[in-house]
Amino acid sequence: MERGWEPGEPGWEPGEPGQLGWQRGGPALGGRDLLALAVASGAAAWATWAVVLMPGFRRVPLRLQVPYQPSSPRQVANALTLLRGRAGKTVDLGSGDGRLVVEAYKQGLRPALGYELNPWLLCLANYRAWRAGYHGKVSFLKKDLWKVDLSDCNNVIVFLAPSVKPLLATKLLAELPDGARVVAGRFPFASWTPSSTLGQGLEQVWAYDMKEVRRAVQSSAQGSLV
Ligand SMILES: C[S@@+](CC[C@H](N)C(=O)[O-])C[C@H]1O[C@@H](n2cnc3c(N)ncnc32)[C@H](O)[C@@H]1O
Repeated sequence: MERGWEPGEPGWEPGEPGQLGWQRGGPALGGRDLLALAVASGAAAWATWAVVLMPGFRRVPLRLQVPYQPSSPRQVANALTLLRGRAGKTVDLGSGDGRLVVEAYKQGLRPALGYELNPWLLCLANYRAWRAGYHGKVSFLKKDLWKVDLSDCNNVIVFLAPSVKPLLATKLLAELPDGARVVAGRFPFASWTPSSTLGQGLEQVWAYDMKEVRRAVQSSAQGSLV
């Protein structure tokens, strides 16, 4: 069989289309190949999403799925400054690798616990607690934050996407006691007025006292009736 030259070999010259030596870079991709490639890339992206990033989220509607993005050390410090001096049950809704819960416990906020659905992150959070010497002192529960009862929580930390904040505001208003404080990171609750805030840009955190939030919501509801 006739053997063509490899590019770079002595005597190799680019040929004409149809001659030996042309298309040395491999056959061009056809429509079917491109379709297969697109399907394979889509399947790989879906598998990464389902197995690594969002396992445990099958029952959570897509519009409420918030991916993991850990707080920066500055965000953690700012959030905990706004909870300084407080007491009572402290929860992080979507606790990720547990950094906020461990720091809250360190600051004396007890009991401190996190709700999280991603099993990898739950493992990481438990490891973090163990490394800090708090194994068995803080808790990370595999629970959907939309389904937990918050009526006995005094301090609630939320580092979640702005898209879920309106629905979360309704849940917090319905369940939290008047004495509770909510600390939100990265994005504020658009319809609530914060009692205090700390930091700039993405490091900014906002504190909301439920009694005042309720009063404002009720008076604006009454105002819209007259
Ligand atoms: C933006 S990350 C914040 C993680 C952590 N609070 C921090 O600030 O480092 C949001 C976390 O919420 C978790 N999450 C999202 N939806 C949830 C749900 N319905 N129930 C429990 N956890 C949820 C995600 O897995 C993710 O770890």
